[in-house]
Amino acid sequence: MEVFETTKIGKCELKNRIIRSATFEGMCDEQGFPTSDYYSFYEKLAQNEVGGIITGFSYISTEGKAMQPGQAGIDSEEKIPYFIKLTDNVHKHNCKIFMQIAHTGRQTRKQETGKDVVGCSPKKSFYFGSKPKVLTSREIYEIIEQFGYSALYAKEAGFDGIQIHAAHGYLIHQFILPSINTRDDEFGVDPKTKIGTKFLDLIIDKIRQKCGNEFSILIKISWGDDYSDKFSKGQFVNLISFLNTKMIDAIEISYGTMDYALNVFRGDFPADLILSKNPFYKTKSRFLKILNKTFVFPFFKIKLKPLKPMYNLEYAVLAKRYTHIPVISVGGFRGADEIEYSIKTKKTDFVGLSRALINEPDFVKKIKKNGQYISKCKNCNYCAIMCDTNNITKCYTAS
Ligand SMILES: Cc1cc2nc3c(=O)[nH]c(=O)nc-3n(C[C@H](O)[C@H](O)[C@H](O)COP(=O)(O)O)c2cc1C
Repeated sequence: MEVFETTKIGKCELKNRIIRSATFEGMCDEQGFPTSDYYSFYEKLAQNEVGGIITGFSYISTEGKAMQPGQAGIDSEEKIPYFIKLTDNVHKHNCKIFMQIAHTGRQTRKQETGKDVVGCSPKKSFYFGSKPKVLTSREIYEIIEQFGYSALYAKEAGFDGIQIHAAHGYLIHQFILPSINTRDDEFGVDPKTKIGTKFLDLIIDKIRQKCGNEFSILIKISWGDDYSDKFSKGQFVNLISFLNTKMIDAIEISYGTMDYALNVFRGDFPADLILSKNPFYKTKSRFLKILNKTFVFPFFKIKLKPLKPMYNLEYAVLAKRYTHIPVISVGGFRGADEIEYSIKTKKTDFVGLSRALINEPDFVKKIKKNGQYISKCKNCNYCAIMCDTNNITKCYTAS
């Protein structure tokens, strides 16, 4: 396999095997409509050789909205014309675009959504803190319907497909994990596989039913987490084996939940920026700053996983042993040689990039020209911390 060869995700042809992984933009208005920043941001990426783009996570309902300002929403028909403008712009450059659709579940706050925080169980996320209202079976079926409609709106807006966000601790992931899903109804954890897939199963079927077989369905999952009752390799294999029975077109392998968000990304822990920008930690009090820096942050740092190159690749390799569905590996790809190695040796079918493209939107163009090129991203994670502010996503430390 070659990096720069035409290939397919479902029925959709891509000019190479590099995907821009979902990256929150912070470029939509309060109702989730795209602004001019959103259009130009994606046009710039599309012009610069990336094979396919997955948008930042977009909410399927206001209840499932994130607490970060500026999130895109695909929760109503009204949005369709605004996204048509986006997909037209991207398609002009022979680039494909998939919309990531999500419901945050317990990983949000009522003060931002205006709605009760909901979850599959009453278990709180320790970072977000709200005790979720437990979803009834009827409400779960309504959310499945909303996923279906959002995918249909995305299709009508010209997207080549959608990516179901089943990773990073959001609602679908909450259902998958036995450490969160304590239900004893049909949406509970299967005692045989030790994972809860019924919710996801019905979402996939609903989207297929509404959007047909030509529309690409991608899915993003986490291979592990940082809770004390950790997701095991066996559970991961069961999840892949389940996905292998479904009509989906690509599986992206990521890691973690937003309770330990920096383990999703890896890299630096920018303590001072967190203290000045993060809504849970920002404070003017010198005392609280010192307290957090001396006692709270060291606790997080103990749990912090190191940023190694291609840090989720091992699990992409494992996934490929249990599925014929194309796999995307994301996390820690910085060198042209790493991308080439992973594709040539068939360890993954696609490579996903987030921060390298925040830092240099023309990174793919550069590696196409120079097989030794290395990203200038410093892994400072300022881009991630700034998602919690009213600022757009960009590289804050590019030299
Ligand atoms: C600023 C920022 C925003 C992100 N937003 C999303 C998102 O909306 N959905 C998602 O699935 N992952 C999101 N991610 C995670 C990335 O897709 C990716 O999994 C992670 O950053 C590791 O890849 P990298 O080393 O190429 O950055 C985000 C990452 C960053 C840095």
